[in-house]
Amino acid sequence: MPSAGRQVASRGSARGSLLGIEGVSTAEIAKLLQLARKMNPQRPRPLLRGKRVLLLFYEASTRTRVSFEIAAKALGATTTLVLSSGSSIEKGESLLDTAYTLRAVGADLMVVRHPNAGAPHLMAAHVDIPVINAGDGMHEHPTQALLDAYTILRHKRKLEGLQVAIIGDIYHSRVARSAIHLLSKFGAKVVLCGPQELLPELATTLAPGLRITRSCEDAVRGADVVMVLRVQRERLAGLKVNLQDYISRYQMTMTRLRLAKNDALLMHPGPIIRGLELTWDVADCPQSAIVEEVRNGVPVRMAVLARALGKAK
Ligand code: CP
Repeated sequence: MPSAGRQVASRGSARGSLLGIEGVSTAEIAKLLQLARKMNPQRPRPLLRGKRVLLLFYEASTRTRVSFEIAAKALGATTTLVLSSGSSIEKGESLLDTAYTLRAVGADLMVVRHPNAGAPHLMAAHVDIPVINAGDGMHEHPTQALLDAYTILRHKRKLEGLQVAIIGDIYHSRVARSAIHLLSKFGAKVVLCGPQELLPELATTLAPGLRITRSCEDAVRGADVVMVLRVQRERLAGLKVNLQDYISRYQMTMTRLRLAKNDALLMHPGPIIRGLELTWDVADCPQSAIVEEVRNGVPVRMAVLARALGKAK
């Protein structure tokens, strides 16, 4: 099926698409965060009235999917959800043919989550509407990095110089990859921590100045932000990861968290698995920003949608 006006989006910012943090400048990120501060989901603004936002999810999601939907509706857009199960994707329709179909029925913007890295980039290169990456395989999750930066900046004056420990399954984490790009661009000191199987040495090549440690205590000591990641059990096939050993060495406990600064933020992109990567009391401790991260996803995604459709006022 031919596309309606093929154009190539070679960069993350082309035509309003947001494909990854790696290709976005600090100035653009700062503008998006500033715009997010003006967005209030409780006070809807009809900036996107008449626009149709397609939510195309090939993988499970709660936070990202729902907050994009609420964000779009708060701006006056209509939303349509397409899941891989129950749609013609199950019959073998390709990613591009699905994209052309959704464009043909009148989509003005597509939000896509896909298990393969690069899927949103392929779509953006073949449709003439903005594509927003809602998580592609082990590659990037740009709106999560934006909402995490937004959350940190509600508690800390600036990102520059902050000591941020990212702990857990970094190998499989698109959240970690986007966070590393964003935090490093703004001069945060990022320490990565996890076992060899979930954090290869190669990870230091993601951004300049990254440090790797295998000791959770070393990573957390003196940190301003402690970001804990879920062990992605669904992607562990073939890797030798002993979960009991993982828990004893890397689970975030109150004893470990107390090694961070007194005013350190405890973050986790969710979904959290209590008793695995963090204890129950850590999830609910006063320093925990986990629920706030989810809440902040709405104004941040409102900003991303408004900017993508050229309505960033
Ligand atoms: N953080 C995140 O992407 O959560 P969901 O998978 O629930 O969207």
